[in-house]
Amino acid sequence: MKRVSFLISLLLFICNLSFSASVKSPNGNIELKFYIDQTGRPVYEMTYKGREVVKPSHLGLELAKDKHASMGMEEHDLMDGFTIEKEETSTFDETWKPVWGETATIRNHYNEYVAVLQQRWLGKRPASSNGTQLAPRQHQRTILIRFRVYDDGIGFRYEFPQQSELNYFLIKEERSEFAMAGDHKAFWLPGDYDTQEQVTQETKLSEIRSRMQEAVNWGNSSVAVFSPTGVQTSLQMKSDDGLYINIHEAACADYATMHLELVDAQTKALTTQLGGGSNAYTPNPKSSEWPIPAPMTFVSHLTPDATGLKGAMQTPCETPWRTVMVSDDARDMLSNNLILNLNEPCALDDVSWIHPTKYCGVWWEMIVGRGSWHYTDDFPSIHLDQIDWKKVKPNSTHKANNENVKRYIDFAAKNGLDEVLVEGWNVGWEDWANMWKRDVFDFVTPYPDFDIKMLNDYAHSKGVKILMHHETSSSTQNYERHMEKAFQLMNKYGYDAVKTGYVGDIIPRGDHHYSQSMNNHYLYVVKEAAKHHIMVNAHEATRPTGLCRTYPNLVGNESARGTEYEAFGGSNPDHTCILPFTRLQGGPMDYTPGIFETKLSTWSNNTSWARITIAGSLALYLTMYSPLQMAADLPENYEKYDDAFQFIRDVACDWDDSKYLEAEPGDYITVARKAKGTDNWFIGGKCDENGHQSVIKLDFLDKDRKYDCTIYADAKDAHYETNPKAYTITKKVVKAGQTLKLTEAPGGGFAISLMAR
Ligand code: NOJ
Ligand code: CA
Repeated sequence: MKRVSFLISLLLFICNLSFSASVKSPNGNIELKFYIDQTGRPVYEMTYKGREVVKPSHLGLELAKDKHASMGMEEHDLMDGFTIEKEETSTFDETWKPVWGETATIRNHYNEYVAVLQQRWLGKRPASSNGTQLAPRQHQRTILIRFRVYDDGIGFRYEFPQQSELNYFLIKEERSEFAMAGDHKAFWLPGDYDTQEQVTQETKLSEIRSRMQEAVNWGNSSVAVFSPTGVQTSLQMKSDDGLYINIHEAACADYATMHLELVDAQTKALTTQLGGGSNAYTPNPKSSEWPIPAPMTFVSHLTPDATGLKGAMQTPCETPWRTVMVSDDARDMLSNNLILNLNEPCALDDVSWIHPTKYCGVWWEMIVGRGSWHYTDDFPSIHLDQIDWKKVKPNSTHKANNENVKRYIDFAAKNGLDEVLVEGWNVGWEDWANMWKRDVFDFVTPYPDFDIKMLNDYAHSKGVKILMHHETSSSTQNYERHMEKAFQLMNKYGYDAVKTGYVGDIIPRGDHHYSQSMNNHYLYVVKEAAKHHIMVNAHEATRPTGLCRTYPNLVGNESARGTEYEAFGGSNPDHTCILPFTRLQGGPMDYTPGIFETKLSTWSNNTSWARITIAGSLALYLTMYSPLQMAADLPENYEKYDDAFQFIRDVACDWDDSKYLEAEPGDYITVARKAKGTDNWFIGGKCDENGHQSVIKLDFLDKDRKYDCTIYADAKDAHYETNPKAYTITKKVVKAGQTLKLTEAPGGGFAISLMAR
């Protein structure tokens, strides 16, 4: 680790009481400027190769009145009245090794600029008990804004040192602005406090408002959209002149998840007309005090908790990093490590028990309606403590039964899969969802047809583990009350990973999936799990922000529309060509790929189908990076296409190197990855509904070796809709320097294994 003070091109000048600092990235491509304007508001701007990325944008936070107001402490926003007291600059250059990842090492190289800001104001004081009005009091407090400037983006955060005038405080809203330089194309999801399982919209920024209503997936089990121009991060954009810009956040801990609210041409008119509120422009209801930013400016919008407030803070503390990544090459958006780099190093001493995992599961058959999670149909509702499960009549559709679980264990053992997820093993599924029922599961009592000891012994005897499932139904207190016993049970039977779930509205009622309190819950689960050497894969939890660097037992999240949506009406073929640019920026997704039998007979209708070819499904094991990869389809479907399934048997899920060869958001992604500790390479290419011609130069292979190359490609007449199962398998010997040309069918792709001889 090397941290040296250095002289960067720091330009300071005093002009009308404003200061300006300029910091460049190590290669000089990115320049950040920071100053305080005439009203004392902090302002930053950012360029890439001299082109505007973020135009002058204000920073600040609005605070809420807290209970101390009556004791003479009044609300005073952290918005204006600042002066720069001190500036610090430094450079940092370190290479670190992730526990698992896309590459064996990651370089963290940036120039840092810290502005120490002082805010002074005269505060009114309440009348004393005898009615005398006391003279106003001078207040003063200090906050820091820290910028890190990388070659491929910037991060900044607010820091709040402990001080008498800033000890406990409540956040009404964070007002970080991101003023865009044009009406960019954007890949966006409706901003929502409770779900990310939406279809990505591809529109101009100016079209967000008119598209919002139809963009919302109103059918999700918990929906809370908040503004006609509110969108989620990570937000991928492309400017007319070919700049790729991405806004997200890093290290979101003990803080609410950030959304972005766009100020557009209509904002001012609507705000005046409707007087603010949820139908108009929420970032700035006090428009007389804080002028509405210029159109095409995003303003941060945090997720509230049940009280409507956005954060309860105790100094010393800091916000997450706000990130802006930029490049003129789309591939840099995918190889970028800025979010991981802005997170703290690994906090766990022993990581030997954390391992990348390939798994199958008693899962897809329930998703497509061929079986049930619940055990009996006899009760309209259940009380966990009032049922003798041995006396209950089974429904014969329950899939987590001994015989079926053994079938999956055998399948995993035969095909080299590490674990078998079993959902529906524990009592409570009879009335689990959307009932706002607090005591929904106990996480330790198996149904009578699931012999927990026998099945784990059976699995272990075959070198396989069972992957635990804890659906919480979003009843978080219930989960926290039972968690220790649940983890002890896992340790007793040899489970080392858990998939958690947060379906439905949060209980205690009124809270939201992405609030500060819920983000604390998710991280609490990860930390407690680590004490028990348990890896966590959390579904419906908040979108990741790189915390897996600090807690590498957080091996997966869902936090977007996963493969299950193919059975719930379907996702567009370009969905998986967008996710790596957006959802995957903060961490891996448990996308659960691998559906070979694409015509699905589901409980919702009989016409559901997965919008992907078999070759395209194989590509996802490369293009959707995750240390946790599922072979999601039914064993009998894989047996039908065993020659294609060979790729899933062979493919690695941990890597020494990754090279993004081709990329364009929403269109195609091609990546080559070198399997950990070997000389074997795997290449995946995935495209949208238009198909793609891929040209791959094998110049990354070892010059002294030959490789057995197997190409799994779409057949000439393959098509995601009409002919998804048409694939070809070609074998040849290749060496470095050769070129491969591949045709990807509409909604298709390809997968290649290159085994070193
Ligand atoms: C939603 C999850 O995404 C899915 O994978 C799981 O099967 C169900 N919840 C039930 O827990
Ligand atoms: Ca889900």
